Amino acid sequence: MNPLRLILTFHPHLHHRCRAMSSNPFSKVQDEAASRDERKWNKLSRMMSSFHEGFKEQFNTLYELSDGSFNKRGWSLGLYLESAKRFNDHLTMHHTIEEAYIFPILGRRMKQFSTESDGEHLASHKGIHDGLQSLKSLIHKCKADPTSYSPTEMRACLDNFREVLFSHLDQEVQDLQGENLKKYFTLKEVEEIPV
Ligand SMILES: [Fe+2]
Ligand SMILES: [Fe+2]
Repeated sequence: MNPLRLILTFHPHLHHRCRAMSSNPFSKVQDEAASRDERKWNKLSRMMSSFHEGFKEQFNTLYELSDGSFNKRGWSLGLYLESAKRFNDHLTMHHTIEEAYIFPILGRRMKQFSTESDGEHLASHKGIHDGLQSLKSLIHKCKADPTSYSPTEMRACLDNFREVLFSHLDQEVQDLQGENLKKYFTLKEVEEIPV
């Protein structure tokens, strides 16, 4: 018999307390262990979600302020363009890390993360990258000649990759949820993924 079960069965005080707390203390222990495991299974999607929510927020802020209302926040055009550049750099780095360290592991068993047969997430990254390249060129042009800044042009540029970006950010988190990972990996394998 499990030593813990023996102790709880024959220890009079514990037995009494456990009976007072719950009709089945072992199921509580098992429930706690199960929810600990669930948290481990979902760690990847939780972390990914927190990055992605940040990217969505930054994108929405850039869009909202593009009409010149950045001035109301006390931002100059230069500062606004710098924050657009930071968004661009961070998202590019996020994708570079995923493609180098995470997709190759997941893609061996989950076709949507495949890096060889053009998995859907890699295809989305390419679409987003095209949008980010246009954004980078626009930032560059406006930094060189601030009078060329046009809210319409900035919004059109952001609108061009909004759909592919937002659907990718949501789908990736969805695909990384524990209930999906369980179909392809052991918990130990998931915990070894470098995040
Ligand atoms: Fe991601
Ligand atoms: Fe991604």
